[in-house]
Amino acid sequence: MRQAIAEAVVDDDVLGKDPTADRLERRVADMLGKDAALFFPSGTQANQTGILLHTTPGSEAICEADSHIFNYEYANAAWLGGVQFVPVTSDRGRLDPDAVRAAVRPGDRHHPRTTLICTEQTHGASGGSVVPVETLTQLRVMADDLEIPVHLDGARLWHAGAALGVPLADVAACADTVMVSMSKGLGCPAGSLLAGPAALIEEAWTIRKRLGGGMRQVGILAAAGLYALDHNLERLAEDHARAARLFAACSEIDGLRPVPPDTNTLRIDVVRKDLPAEEVSRRLADRGVWILALGPDWLRAVVHLDVDDNGIDRAIEALHEAVA
Ligand SMILES: Cc1ncc(COP(=O)(O)O)c(C=O)c1O
Repeated sequence: MRQAIAEAVVDDDVLGKDPTADRLERRVADMLGKDAALFFPSGTQANQTGILLHTTPGSEAICEADSHIFNYEYANAAWLGGVQFVPVTSDRGRLDPDAVRAAVRPGDRHHPRTTLICTEQTHGASGGSVVPVETLTQLRVMADDLEIPVHLDGARLWHAGAALGVPLADVAACADTVMVSMSKGLGCPAGSLLAGPAALIEEAWTIRKRLGGGMRQVGILAAAGLYALDHNLERLAEDHARAARLFAACSEIDGLRPVPPDTNTLRIDVVRKDLPAEEVSRRLADRGVWILALGPDWLRAVVHLDVDDNGIDRAIEALHEAVA
């Protein structure tokens, strides 16, 4: 990947002339079954652009209650777009179309308008859970019925495709706009893309510019993305298998209750009252193992291409020691 970055052919992408960025955008759009795509510095910026594209200030967007877009993007939808989120709870990110329909405003003189439905695949907070394509299709049918667009935060769409064994376009078909991250499990240093209909992606150029996301010779990052699609996509199943092994080992440790992983992300609940997740994370870090505490009583471990079988062995040993 470093070699590909060094050899990238570049030009000024703010003028729309970088050939390597163009190639990555075309390739991702085709993979996702969308007209066009645009490269962004981060997933957050691409998600927020998706929201800004579909909504108007003073309107509402329905989202999943544990989603990244709702919890970890600094209320940007409100700050940048004057949009109010309506969080809907779900079982592991599987938004129930009936629950979403119930949250849609009636479209009268008294309520804000519902202008967008946001969903996430895989669902990070529940441990990289895969949302079944049927659930997303039902959501799409309901949204079409109400003429409300859908934005998919597919930061880890790659992992859903690998776990489901279906083309990414099938997973992305539920949404008008889709965000995917090159830096989630594929080994790229940075970069996300927003894909969707040609007219919306054209408009996304303007919004990206407003947000300060235009980068000149961005081909060096796009080259990393192209390399990742060629070399690091097919191997995701290896990470999923290693996460399953970590799960099995964690299940044997008193005080930990891991949630069976669908993909490369493992949610580990710490069920010992005297042991905060933060403390476990600190003890793991002392042993050279990085597992984040994302709540007072749960940890999130992510297996990626730099973690081999020995790495999993070390993590298991460190988890035993940290809890003991
Ligand atoms: C599901 C999800 N969406 C969006 C993002 C934001 O991506 P970035 O960190 O590139 O802004 C993340 C980052 O972890 C994420 O997990």
